[in-house]
Amino acid sequence: MPRTLMCDPALFEKDLSGKVYIVTGANSGSGIATTEQLVRQGATVVAACRRVDAGEEATRHLVNEQGRAEVMALDLDSLQSVRSFVETFRAKHDSLHGLVNNAGVMNTPEGRTKDGFETQFGVNHLGHFLLTELLLDTLKASAPSRVVCVSSVAHAGMRGVHATLDLDDPHFDQRSYDATAAYNQSKLAVVIYARHLAKRLEGTGVSVFSTHPGWIRSNLAKHTMPLWVQNVLMRPLSGPLGLLSYEEGAQTQLHCLLDDDAPAHSGEYYSQNSVLYSDKANRPGGWPMKSPNPHVYDDQLADRLQEVSAKMVGLDVGSSSA
Ligand SMILES: NC(=O)c1ccc[n+]([C@@H]2O[C@H](COP(=O)([O-])OP(=O)(O)OC[C@H]3O[C@@H](n4cnc5c(N)ncnc54)[C@H](OP(=O)(O)O)[C@@H]3O)[C@@H](O)[C@H]2O)c1
Repeated sequence: MPRTLMCDPALFEKDLSGKVYIVTGANSGSGIATTEQLVRQGATVVAACRRVDAGEEATRHLVNEQGRAEVMALDLDSLQSVRSFVETFRAKHDSLHGLVNNAGVMNTPEGRTKDGFETQFGVNHLGHFLLTELLLDTLKASAPSRVVCVSSVAHAGMRGVHATLDLDDPHFDQRSYDATAAYNQSKLAVVIYARHLAKRLEGTGVSVFSTHPGWIRSNLAKHTMPLWVQNVLMRPLSGPLGLLSYEEGAQTQLHCLLDDDAPAHSGEYYSQNSVLYSDKANRPGGWPMKSPNPHVYDDQLADRLQEVSAKMVGLDVGSSSA
């Protein structure tokens, strides 16, 4: 396996006191590791968690002289919950220097969000889409600020077949449900949205990135194989398979949040290494790298995704143009 990409240690020396971040899905995996590092550097991190008790449990120890984690309820499965989260956030904070759209679900059984969207498209893309759009004014007022959209190598596709985004049937109403295709579609939407948003925000001081965090030993694969199989049988294979720790899985997002040069690459895709890139040349990953999926660079598809997503979440299409 190629080596894990790690942040320049100098980035972790930066003083983040007075800075405010939101990390979604902050109770687990790369989310908790991202939150820990930002708090260590003095930031206030709003840990946006579906299960508040799990968020409290995971972040209780995260407090120092300058920094702290604050748990707030956010269920991306519900547009009402996203709207309530933003109201609660705004009532407490005037600024937002970084938004990390980290939460996610993978290969879920066929299902619908509270608003009737296919679960993975709804949680991974639409919930974060609404969250980001509702926070744009605060991000702009706090510039320089950054948005990191956690995607996956899966957005590129598998076994040499590019993932697709079917905006005529995003919820699998007219085709049979395929959990992997639905995950890949949702993560492709995330990369396309990040690139489109970066263009809309040019000149505002808000930069936007998408990432593949690496193949992390986390709870994400719970719908793919039982956790005990992962934690007991698979553990000896972790090294050879190149599975990352939570801390390693947070590096790409932290690089995008903290690197001085990153804003010059707003809109681009940053990736850890992955055996899943069908083109061997891409396997070492890169900060940033060109996505192997040509759909990422389809501007008409991106415009349509913006329009369709805005309609689905009940935003005035006009008002979601930055
Ligand atoms: N693990 C990998 O190998 C890998 C590879 C590529 C990309 N990624 C991406 O990396 C991100 C983090 O994954 P991870 O590996 O750290 O997984 P994880 O440990 O399963 O963490 C996922 C987080 O998302 C939260 N979440 C799930 N549904 C939610 C909802 N409806 N509303 C709000 N939060 C919700 C989870 O909350 P609960 O604990 O309450 O469920 C958890 O905090 C995901 O976007 C994933 O797609 C991971």
